Amino acid sequence: MLKDSILLKVENLVTSFSTENGRIRAVDDISFELREKQILGIVGESGCGKSVTALSILRLLPKPSGIIESGKIFFKHTDILRLPPEKMHSIRGNRISMIFQEPMTALNPVHTIGKQLEEIFHLHFPNMPKKQIRDESVELLQKVGIPDPESRMNEYPHQISGGMRQRVLIAIALAAKPDILIADEPTTALDVTIQSQILDLMIQLQKETGMAIIFITHALGVIAEICDDVVVMYAGKVAETAPVKQLFKEPKHPYTKGLLASIPRLESPRKKKLSIIKGMVPSLYELPQGCRFQNRCPDAMEICSTRPPSLKRVADDHFVSCYLY
Ligand SMILES: Nc1ncnc2c1ncn2[C@@H]1O[C@H](COP(=O)(O)OP(=O)(O)OP(=O)(O)O)[C@@H](O)[C@H]1O
Ligand SMILES: [Mg+2]
Repeated sequence: MLKDSILLKVENLVTSFSTENGRIRAVDDISFELREKQILGIVGESGCGKSVTALSILRLLPKPSGIIESGKIFFKHTDILRLPPEKMHSIRGNRISMIFQEPMTALNPVHTIGKQLEEIFHLHFPNMPKKQIRDESVELLQKVGIPDPESRMNEYPHQISGGMRQRVLIAIALAAKPDILIADEPTTALDVTIQSQILDLMIQLQKETGMAIIFITHALGVIAEICDDVVVMYAGKVAETAPVKQLFKEPKHPYTKGLLASIPRLESPRKKKLSIIKGMVPSLYELPQGCRFQNRCPDAMEICSTRPPSLKRVADDHFVSCYLY
């Protein structure tokens, strides 16, 4: 039974793809929880399995190559991996919404902003009168900080800036008043000022709506700005998970320490070189026995090459998969 405050629980999820060169496990036995009203960050380098985790939760993996091999994903008290497709369909979009990684491809270039938003309202609330759909669409655009929303309704995606397009996508994701919003790198394509405006908007919307957010990014700096808790992923596994403050104060996993050392800080002297983690992420086709970080780890020991370390509790809500602990 789940604790009442837990909205989503991912348990031992394994997701794999069949490829020309064999089957690879993009996500390999990961577990984490999302509580009500929480903003949970998932962070890690490109290819570590962040988007695949999100797509697994929504059961939107590319078919037929991507499959969930094992694990459970509880939404409230239901294991959504066991739901028939039509039930899953109503959870997706309605209860769990997602903002996808590529904002350009997510909007339809031949329809106005208004039409796309109204369609979503119509889909989720088929009995809502047209006038009300129009009003709610305008109100939602206003809420996500789009100036002069009435006239924006009649514009096409290419007529507005990248930052505004991202706001429209957030509006579309919010139309159904979801319990969970999954935002996959929603700010990566934007310049820094716009990025921080969008982050502020997400925090504000979380407070107003009470929804929980899973925020996916490769930047720990972004995590520090908006998240309550964080899951650090490495090569398809969870390396460490903790409340954000705790992770920044007492990082445990050598990979997390390396990531933290590579965040530029205002106070650090200009000349001091940012440390970057040496070496390469192992290919999913040639994973080492044991810990996947061993070839880059400054603290690697003999045991690290025997079998993968499991996730161990080192403090309240702080878990790390490393033989040092
Ligand atoms: N459709 C697919 N077919 C085969 N392999 C895939 C497919 N989609 C993803 N992968 C592989 O799964 C792994 C995880 O990919 P994923 O997209 O989750 O990474 P990510 O952490 O989101 O990276 P990024 O930060 O670049 O978005 C990668 O090695 C990727 O090549
Ligand atoms: Mg991704």
